[in-house]
Amino acid sequence: MKTVLSGIRPTGNLHLGNYFGALSNFVSMQNEYNCFFFIADYHSLTTHPTPQNIQGNVRSVLAQYLAAGLDPEKATLYIQSDVPEVIELYLFLNMNAYVGELERCTSFKDKIRQQPQNVNAGLLTYPTLMAADILIHKADFVPVGKDQEQHLEMARTFGNRFNRMYNHEYFPEPQAFNFGKELVKIPALNGSGKMGKSEGEDSTIFLTDTPEVILKKVKRAVTDAGPTEPNQPVSEPVANLFQLMHVVSKPETLEFFREQYSTCQIRYGDLKKQLAEDMIAFVNPIRERIQEIASNEVYLNKVAQIGKEKAQESARKTIREVREIIGFKPF
Ligand code: TRP
Repeated sequence: MKTVLSGIRPTGNLHLGNYFGALSNFVSMQNEYNCFFFIADYHSLTTHPTPQNIQGNVRSVLAQYLAAGLDPEKATLYIQSDVPEVIELYLFLNMNAYVGELERCTSFKDKIRQQPQNVNAGLLTYPTLMAADILIHKADFVPVGKDQEQHLEMARTFGNRFNRMYNHEYFPEPQAFNFGKELVKIPALNGSGKMGKSEGEDSTIFLTDTPEVILKKVKRAVTDAGPTEPNQPVSEPVANLFQLMHVVSKPETLEFFREQYSTCQIRYGDLKKQLAEDMIAFVNPIRERIQEIASNEVYLNKVAQIGKEKAQESARKTIREVREIIGFKPF
């Protein structure tokens, strides 16, 4: 069985973009792959060195993963800092990672601009830590968005370099995982861009949003002045609302509003009301599950413990072999 691995930094609540872009696919992958899903809490220190509530954030993401349908019995669901073996691999990889190639990394250049007051070595070596996450379980596939492609490429470089330097075909080449269908685009509510924190919280529907919050956000969604002639091309903001409707509503509902648009009878207020209602019907059961799971401390602890044990077993095996290959042998 092939191994799939994915990590997420615990920097906020998950939204519909995370759900349709990744989570819903992870749920079906659990049966077909050896899956590792982890929360990258070490990575979050590169931008938030003195976290306010790292433990709470990690638990909250874990609860959201579980509520979305990830199964700790099937997949290995773990917290990065529960597997310190990853840091030993990070050290080994760093010895053979060159400052020049790390400095050329796009995300590093972006971060230098965003936080010039804290250009730390962890930021520079972010890609080696990520490579260690991937290589520690010898992952075959990593589902990544555009923004992480370069990091994955670097993981391949570091793995191949290790194999070459120590003359051992040890690490497999991790490939980008494609979900096998067109990626669903989840647009923001502000008329342009993708749903996510960069477009602002008001334009993003989180899995933790209450019905009142969803209604408010959808009501404020950007539209246009409305069609003035039949079959007029749809503007981006309105196309985005149709797209969201496509994801959460019944096909007939979308069809109805498209028809209303084509015949210039559409009332955006009605469209928004329907969209909000369907979004609430979709999000609310998940939100309730998140609440229930998040309040069950015993269960969360048990899940984290199971994940820790499974991830450690896999990581320890790799570290034992990597030490041998480099030449560290027990006395
Ligand atoms: N860098 C990823 C992100 O910001 C998070 C991450 C850390 C990750 N380690 C990983 C993703 C390993 C995939 C595999 O989204």
